[in-house]
Amino acid sequence: MCGIVGATAKRQVSGILIEGLLRLEYRGYDSAGIATQEISTKSFNRIRVSGKVRDLVVALSEQPIRGTGGLAHTRWATHGAPIERNAHPHIANGRIALVHNGTIENFVSLRKELEDSGRQLDSQTDSEVVAQLVDLGIESGSTFLGAVQQTVARLEGAFALGLMCSTDPGTIIAVRKGCPLVVGLGTDEHFIASDVLALRSVTNQFIFLDEGDIAVMSSGSLQIFDEQGQPVERDSIRVSDQGESVDKGSYRHYLEKEIHDQPQAIRSTLEGRITEQHISEPGLGRCVSEIFDKTSAISIVGCGTSYYAAYVAKYWIEDMAQIPCSAEIASEFRYRNAAVLDGSLFLSLSQSGESADTIAALRLAEQRNYMHTMNIGNVPTSTLMRESATAIAMRAGVEVSVASTKSFTTMLVDLLLVALLLARRRGFPREREHEIVKALHILDEAVECALLLDDRIRQLAEEFLLTQHALFLGRGVHYPVALEGALKLKEISYMHAEGYPAGELKHGPLALVDADMPVVAVAPNNELLRKVQLNLQEVRARGGRLYVFTDEAADFDHQNDVVVIEVPKVHPALSPIVFTIPLQLLAYHVATLRGTDIDQPRNIAKSVTVE
Ligand code: AGP
Repeated sequence: MCGIVGATAKRQVSGILIEGLLRLEYRGYDSAGIATQEISTKSFNRIRVSGKVRDLVVALSEQPIRGTGGLAHTRWATHGAPIERNAHPHIANGRIALVHNGTIENFVSLRKELEDSGRQLDSQTDSEVVAQLVDLGIESGSTFLGAVQQTVARLEGAFALGLMCSTDPGTIIAVRKGCPLVVGLGTDEHFIASDVLALRSVTNQFIFLDEGDIAVMSSGSLQIFDEQGQPVERDSIRVSDQGESVDKGSYRHYLEKEIHDQPQAIRSTLEGRITEQHISEPGLGRCVSEIFDKTSAISIVGCGTSYYAAYVAKYWIEDMAQIPCSAEIASEFRYRNAAVLDGSLFLSLSQSGESADTIAALRLAEQRNYMHTMNIGNVPTSTLMRESATAIAMRAGVEVSVASTKSFTTMLVDLLLVALLLARRRGFPREREHEIVKALHILDEAVECALLLDDRIRQLAEEFLLTQHALFLGRGVHYPVALEGALKLKEISYMHAEGYPAGELKHGPLALVDADMPVVAVAPNNELLRKVQLNLQEVRARGGRLYVFTDEAADFDHQNDVVVIEVPKVHPALSPIVFTIPLQLLAYHVATLRGTDIDQPRNIAKSVTVE
């Protein structure tokens, strides 16, 4: 999703801005641009490209630009195609340079107003409208800050903005309203960025702007105004370097590395959170025990893969703790008048902590009757972590690839601990907790064994090369695992894939099944196995190609039309985690064979900061 970087300093800033954009690349984007300003000439130098930051670097090497202040941007197209003309920074009337993340919902009427007043807009974007309005404000006699404040008051939607003005050289104005934006503090320099990662090479001191804040900065000064326009002080936070490497090592793609990171990520997740036989409550964070004592219902909300983790947790929590648990897609929850049961805990799940829909769901939950809000997230400085009353920090490590892998499995580990802690309060036998904890101690090894299926699955992937569709089936807690397997395949290989509860097949999707339709079944040897086998017979009878992921002694016919892949046997409570691994490998190998952009698949973004 769009990435913003800005800098005002006493040194040249184009290198800082490009480094920032490279660090934001993981978010996903389709065009990039930079504009700098020299204090002496006041005017802007701008280069924009449709494509990647590396293309921008090439353009800059052919035509270097100078400036001690500047803004840079990676754009994920919403309004208007990903072409150079629509790329940011936008410049209005040679006077206002602007970068924008988010969406301006009332841009159609604002654009019409501008056009009716004789303004010609260069792009099809909602963003340029903002630059033009600020310029119009200055033309009518407002100061730069005044024009920004008046414009922001007219905007509907969620956005973060960075602006510069030719008549106020060296000043950057930053606006945060609904989309993340941080201010980085240097020595005689200030920075802005969509997330701290972009600025890690220049500072570790940050101010996280509050909703509605407007920050005005030059190299030597910084002033922040709140939503009412009053000057405010905001605390700065030192963000420590987690010392984590974000390079690919010997792997070809971040995705491959992150799939193989999972045993270590699981070990880190469990560290200090389980003893030999039990779960250690303090290990999950402050206040967690107190909250779980009072929890008698739970709503879990997330998007995409995080939603599927919520769905798995729903099965676990209702089964073990016997308390009502709903799992809901954040973009649905936020516009629904959901009934809130007494003692309900609102739990948001998010790798990035910046998914706009999940943040909106949290803010809605805060206005409703929820007993408490909690977040499980992977980025400690994220909006969701900061705004939730309590947070459980995931320890997946930095996840760069747009497709979530290790964040899913580690989120599941955290959710299993939550389920067990809730269950403990509802009379779940201690010996059963002990059995699961024992199994958790060796979960990393089971995941390592599952990763050994890599070669086998690479060969299997060839059978998916020429096909356009696939069906993923599961039952019970493995139904969301099938959903996640299908999502992984579609998002990185661009192949159409659907996840279905196996028992639902005959109610419609069976019509799709023929010899060209691979059907992937998640079928561990559990109490539902016989039911799944019956469902798979329905597929075989229609000539479907079956790929069955199962564990030992599951008794599948090894016949020509059934490919059986044996996954390591683990405690049934942990099998959703282990069965996820081969599905990730399948998606990865199919995508590699298809030659797609594995780490930054087309059209999608890592951090989805727009609605
Ligand atoms: C996962 O592979 C996806 N790219 C996507 O569905 C993701 O899980 C979703 O956007 C939610 O992100 P979050 O966990 O950062 O909130």
